[in-house]
Amino acid sequence: MTQSCVVDGKTTPGLTALPISLSLSPEHLVVAVPVAVVAAVGGFLVSHYLNGRSCKKGLVNTCISKDSPKVVHSFDMEDIATKAVYCRCWKSKKFPFCDGAHTKHNEETGDNVGPLIIKKKDA
Ligand code: FES
Repeated sequence: MTQSCVVDGKTTPGLTALPISLSLSPEHLVVAVPVAVVAAVGGFLVSHYLNGRSCKKGLVNTCISKDSPKVVHSFDMEDIATKAVYCRCWKSKKFPFCDGAHTKHNEETGDNVGPLIIKKKDA
């Protein structure tokens, strides 16, 4: 669809009438550039702040029984044969028992976690 536009009192066919002027004078740029920079920095800071509030920082348990409000295991001492090795890194696929996953975790993160080993006294 072809429209006409009036420029300097003359009708110019083929131009689309725009509701605003797109030309910026140097005076406009002196104001527009700082406003744009402040808006961009402000937007980034607000976004960063809101993301920080929504993320749960410091989670130890990232995957075990996440549908439960608390992960608890209980064992009777009589049920432990001679030795039981329990995971304390929360990375074991056999949780609550250690499967050695702490070794990979320590190598990747520089951490130093390890299992809890419970042995019978005479074992
Ligand atoms: S796998 Fe978690 S402490 Fe060994």
